[in-house]
Amino acid sequence: MTRTVVAQAYGGPEVLAIEDIELPAPGDGQVLVDVCAAGTNPIDFKLYSGAMGDDPAALPMPVGMEVAGVVAAVGPGAHGYTGPLSVGDEVIATNVRGGYSEQVVVAGGDVGHKPAGLSFEEAAGLILAGATAWHLLMKTDVGTGDTVLIHAAGGGVGLMAVQLAAARGARVIATASAARHDELRGYGAHPVAYGPGLADRVRAIGTVDAALDLVGTDEALDTSIELVADRARIATIAGFGRAGELGIAALTGADGGQEIRNAARPELIKLADEGRLEVTVDKVFSLGEAAEAHRYLQAGHTRGKVVLVP
Ligand SMILES: NC(=O)c1ccc[n+]([C@@H]2O[C@H](COP(=O)([O-])OP(=O)(O)OC[C@H]3O[C@@H](n4cnc5c(N)ncnc54)[C@H](OP(=O)(O)O)[C@@H]3O)[C@@H](O)[C@H]2O)c1
Repeated sequence: MTRTVVAQAYGGPEVLAIEDIELPAPGDGQVLVDVCAAGTNPIDFKLYSGAMGDDPAALPMPVGMEVAGVVAAVGPGAHGYTGPLSVGDEVIATNVRGGYSEQVVVAGGDVGHKPAGLSFEEAAGLILAGATAWHLLMKTDVGTGDTVLIHAAGGGVGLMAVQLAAARGARVIATASAARHDELRGYGAHPVAYGPGLADRVRAIGTVDAALDLVGTDEALDTSIELVADRARIATIAGFGRAGELGIAALTGADGGQEIRNAARPELIKLADEGRLEVTVDKVFSLGEAAEAHRYLQAGHTRGKVVLVP
């Protein structure tokens, strides 16, 4: 038996509960992972909120998409994206169904080896946010000599996007509340406060070639449109309501982006292994505190990643 967090109904974090479930042995191409840390992401609570569908047949709904842990059993032919998998390997798994668990069974192709320099808590927050940031930077073609404006730069995806943009040789202007500015400066970014007057504060720093919106507010979208000449170089992962009308890309994994995101995974692991990509862990909760973790995440002001430990 393994303890796992499920949403028992559609609603707020109060619908989360822990259940004991029987996991199958890993089948062809699969591995069993003892979870040491489970990464949380806003999609985790959006899925059971009811806003993205409320099919009763999907309940109880397993929660959590990425984990870091240790391989406990290997099914026939299972192979990770960073190499062969053996019992005892320290790994990261993504595209997980029900990651807020003591153990998970996952496809070997979604498993990579954990960078030695990252703790399990850090590793559990690396891939989903990192691959999303990678997709945004690829889509907007950010590279050497560009100045990129990143909205909501202090969150999970934001801190990844800032580091990856800098690694691609871009100059970064990063919006965040004042408490995040020192950390953003540490990554070489020019921090600015969001709020009224944002476009003028950004203009005072320089001309902007591309913009990444990670928050979806009118302010972030309108400032991006005002400052970036080429709309093909603006992308959002949160402003889906207005993206079509504005003629900018709204990215999900389901738009052909999953291939880009999957290809990013070994690159992210390599960068983290080389000490060129850090994961900031904001808070760590126990599995039993999943509802509390989601209330914190929903408040929308996390500094990096929120992680659960079994
Ligand atoms: N489409 C996709 O494929 C995809 C993938 C991943 C995530 N997402 C979405 O992208 C969004 C960000 O994800 P995340 O994991 O980075 O979330 P997160 O870690 O919760 O980050 C939230 C950040 O938003 C900032 N923020 C809050 N209000 C703001 C405002 N008015 N203007 C600018 N920044 C503001 C906060 O900064 P301060 O603390 O400084 O206020 C905080 O750092 C979520 O909506 C998530 O669902 C989409």
